[in-house]
Amino acid sequence: MSTETSATGAFGALTAERGICFGGDYNPEQWDPSVWREDVELMRQAGVNLVTVGVFSWARIEPAPGVRDFAWLDEVLGLLHEAGIAVDLATPTASPPPWLGIRHPETLPVDRDGVRLVPGSRNQFTPASRIYREHALAITRDIAERYAAHPAVRMWHIGNEFGQLDFGDEAAREFRRWLMEQYGSIDALNTAWGTAFWSQHYADFDEILPPRRAPYLINPTQALDFRRFISDLLRDCYRELRDAVREAGATQPVTTNFMGFFAHVDYWSWADDLDLIADDQYPDPADPRAAVGIALVQDLMRSLGGGRPWMLMEQATSALMWREHNLPKTPQRARRDSLQAVARGADGVAYFQWRASSAGAERFHAAMLPHAGADTDLFRGVCRQGQDLRLLRPVVGATVDAEAAIVFDWSSWWASEEPGRPTERLDMIEQITRWYDQLWRRGIAVDLVEPGADLDGYRLVLAPQLYITEPDAAAALERAVERGAHLVVGPFSGVADRNAHVLVGRSPVLLRDVMGVSGEEWCALPDENVELVGDWWAPADGAAEASILGERLRTDGADVLLTYADGDLAGLPAVARNTRGDGVAWHVGAVVSDAVLSKILGEAAAASGVRGAVPELETLPDLLEAVQRGPVLFLLNHGVEEQRIPVRPGLVDLLTSETADRVVTVPPGDVRALIERADS
Ligand code: GLA
Repeated sequence: MSTETSATGAFGALTAERGICFGGDYNPEQWDPSVWREDVELMRQAGVNLVTVGVFSWARIEPAPGVRDFAWLDEVLGLLHEAGIAVDLATPTASPPPWLGIRHPETLPVDRDGVRLVPGSRNQFTPASRIYREHALAITRDIAERYAAHPAVRMWHIGNEFGQLDFGDEAAREFRRWLMEQYGSIDALNTAWGTAFWSQHYADFDEILPPRRAPYLINPTQALDFRRFISDLLRDCYRELRDAVREAGATQPVTTNFMGFFAHVDYWSWADDLDLIADDQYPDPADPRAAVGIALVQDLMRSLGGGRPWMLMEQATSALMWREHNLPKTPQRARRDSLQAVARGADGVAYFQWRASSAGAERFHAAMLPHAGADTDLFRGVCRQGQDLRLLRPVVGATVDAEAAIVFDWSSWWASEEPGRPTERLDMIEQITRWYDQLWRRGIAVDLVEPGADLDGYRLVLAPQLYITEPDAAAALERAVERGAHLVVGPFSGVADRNAHVLVGRSPVLLRDVMGVSGEEWCALPDENVELVGDWWAPADGAAEASILGERLRTDGADVLLTYADGDLAGLPAVARNTRGDGVAWHVGAVVSDAVLSKILGEAAAASGVRGAVPELETLPDLLEAVQRGPVLFLLNHGVEEQRIPVRPGLVDLLTSETADRVVTVPPGDVRALIERADS
């Protein structure tokens, strides 16, 4: 993907000028104007250089239909500009004022059960409603015309966390329109949806509904297409608002905030529409391995942007109010979370939100400035982050270069989790995270790629669960192996085509040749783990086991590394390895234990020549994360024990100015950012 678009250049220009962006959502409309000056003063003290303004300001700007009140916003932008703080100006379109839904109930979303949702919260709109869209466009145009050339405005933020669902009549109308465009004729739709099953044949597009509550399982292709439709509809909504901002003359980069592995939007299909990728991340402090899952999300964000710097748009300084337990973060943990994002390619780190609300649904959500004010450990921690980020200027614009890739796509995720499958226990994101964890433990950088993407730069390619495998994706994987890569394919891959129809033939139909194995039946495995055996395994390797799902496989030429010790699949292959062209294809035919995954991925990585960020160590100490970003080696200790890590001589820590000579100590919870010493 090209990195040369002008708008990307605009984010690059902002960070080149100001360093890493640091700040948060700023909601001054919640406060008396007398507080704003203190806000700006404390922002300066904390090193804040970018705030997102106006995300939820619609009712304040348009208190009654057609009325505009910009005076307060003029004042806020003026104050921020005087203080040298840049603004990411939002369209306030994620939360329409109550009057819109009251006057036009058809702008309100309807859930799967036919219940129309009401104002009084937020997100009370359906992207399918033309009336909502017209009102959203009108206010966006007025805001953009007024502020496009405002010197404080350096970024635009469309809506907030796009993800609204609607199963009502507005959505039904737009869904039919979308289906007509996709299929052209009702016959084509009937074929694609397999409506011969259960007498679902449609005579006309008018008969089609969103997948509302039905007596039993919904047609899986209808469900899949509805997900694709929602993602496209939300993207249309985003595009329309972005275009309005551009038409008003705005030249700043335009973005919106993603939500990691968010189930309702296919971010691959959105990525090119954002000038920079931005994401909201809320790792759970109660999860000791949360750093792994969030690292995977961060690699996804970097990959969505074609490797370019992205922005952590929202996170929490401490406790949330929407989890059951809401464990707070320590300031040290908050700092490490921010630095982790930078290590993985972020050139912006921001929070929800600047000042903790004292009223409203999120009054117990932590902020950069807590209710208790500036004389707090939390605020001192925020100020320290501001200083740290200034010290990390040498990474601005730098890339994280990966030779390993994980193939992931939303359609496979959606389709493989539709009910009515061999097991309800298989969770794709959980499995991808387990595979990723094995590379994370080795400090191996990973990109995520779409099926069918060019794999030329990668020596190690993982497809943990590529359920939908189209011919182009199969060909790309095969080509990668032929030219020397190691490919590792996991269970429940190569199962279906883009319509979620199961491919006919021994599986994985399109990957059989390259894998050198083939299967005839997916088999859910019993609750007790099934032991795996084989000469390849040594007792010291740990527990070789399979669970959740296996497959009745045979080898068609691949070397069998592990077979099932007992049960229905006793003696059949579970893990196999096939040499093909200049490369190797590993087939993992079951959900295997961590020890098995570790051995497979460790051997595949070593044989493919992919090295970790600390080449001296094949495996890093537990919960020690290592990432090389441009000239800087980041070492993050997420554990509770001090770690001593071998490094090359002549490095200095950007964060402490201490030199590291062959060994660096990383205290628990701390971070090192090592760069070549100027004189070395
Ligand atoms: C998301 C939203 C914010 C806020 C936070 C709370 O990030 O965008 O407006 O609700 O969640 O964690």
